[in-house]
Amino acid sequence: MAGMGDIHGFNAMDARSPLSLPRTVALVGLMGAGKSAIGKRLAMRLGLPFVDADDEIERAAGCSIAEIFEKYGEADFRAGERRVISRLLDESPHVLSTGGGAYIDPETRALMRAKAVTVWLRAELDVLFDRVRKRAHRPLLRNGDPKEVLARLMTQRYPIYAEADVVVDSTAQPADRTTEQVIEALRAHLQTEKTPA
Ligand code: S3P
Repeated sequence: MAGMGDIHGFNAMDARSPLSLPRTVALVGLMGAGKSAIGKRLAMRLGLPFVDADDEIERAAGCSIAEIFEKYGEADFRAGERRVISRLLDESPHVLSTGGGAYIDPETRALMRAKAVTVWLRAELDVLFDRVRKRAHRPLLRNGDPKEVLARLMTQRYPIYAEADVVVDSTAQPADRTTEQVIEALRAHLQTEKTPA
């Protein structure tokens, strides 16, 4: 219809149609980025199941992530994480929240890039720190000053997270608003997949 905002083949009316996902949406980003909070809302909005990879790892191991780090070390944790995420990526489409280091592991990243639409929830240090400081269950944040650890991980990991298909800023605004931005960013990304360059 003329005048309805048809810009470069993308009709603005599309913004209101339900978004149908051809494959799993995997959320990546640092601890405190909001992967679980946004992931649950996103799943609800898309009518898909929500799966938390860390919960699945704990279920498979029969103990907490902190205990896995303590008893077996980070390398074994990463191997278990890789196996669990690989299994989850073969299941029907869902919203998958992954632990902050999952996308940094080259093999896990390759699997996620091949089988999922990846979304990086990018957040500033103060936002991350504010969200993680109240909880003590994360083993990596027990190795020194948590804010310094987060700052170091930002330097190491942000260039890698930047390879995700979609990037959305996770700020102190309400989670529902960020979820809305993820949906619109996914819609734009899926549109580019459909339109050959
Ligand atoms: C980790 C993040 C954690 C958890 C583990 C390691 C990381 O998950 O997987 O403690 O390497 O950043 P969250 O990002 O959900 O806290």
